[in-house]
Amino acid sequence: MATLLHIDSSPMGAASVSRHLSQTYVENWKKSHPGGTVINRDLSRSGLTAITAEWVAAAYTPEEARTPEQKALLATSDELLAEVEAADELAIGVSMHNFSIPSVLKLWIDQVVRVGKTFAYVDGAPKGLLQGKKATLLVATGGQYGPGTGLEFLNFIEPYLKTLFGFIGITDVAFHTAGGAAALNYGADRAQFLQPHDEAVAALVAARI
Ligand SMILES: Cc1cc2nc3c(=O)[nH]c(=O)nc-3n(C[C@H](O)[C@H](O)[C@H](O)COP(=O)(O)O)c2cc1C
Repeated sequence: MATLLHIDSSPMGAASVSRHLSQTYVENWKKSHPGGTVINRDLSRSGLTAITAEWVAAAYTPEEARTPEQKALLATSDELLAEVEAADELAIGVSMHNFSIPSVLKLWIDQVVRVGKTFAYVDGAPKGLLQGKKATLLVATGGQYGPGTGLEFLNFIEPYLKTLFGFIGITDVAFHTAGGAAALNYGADRAQFLQPHDEAVAALVAARI
């Protein structure tokens, strides 16, 4: 049975546009995968901390040689990795923060990009170890950074996440971005703003079955 890992990274709760879009993805996914399993990971409530020198040393120590302290240091990473490994597919809500991803999503990335687990060096070259998975990124940005805006170069989210997931072996990566969400702060109608994005996300789910 199919498994979807649903991740959110916005701190904005019910007001979040990316959370709304990732939820739309999940609802449509459930309809097209009856009996499928959804794992939810809310990064704004996960209390992740930055990796440390000790964490890096533990990750690079062969598993059988790790001390109990090193195993404990990697416990959160192991838990997050188990969620990724269990999933056939990832759907991730991403807010644009300062032209990039929310810091909690970066903390998650640092925990799951792990030598010997999600990547390895083979003949001196990096090789992604996750195979056959796909990732869909549901992004919300205050401004517009799409093709033709002249501001595409300021969107660091897409090239970064495409590279990052490719590095760990997930090369089937799709994006839907709700640009111009700042209008909601200036009186734009939320339902009207979200409607075309909900339709596009539903179509994206259908296209990715
Ligand atoms: C801390 C912070 C930084 C932001 N930085 C940017 C930015 O660099 N560019 C932009 O277009 N919008 C920026 N915004 C606006 C958000 O991208 C916008 O509100 C979007 O809806 C956030 O996603 P969310 O609604 O899922 O939280 C920022 C918002 C916050 C709270």
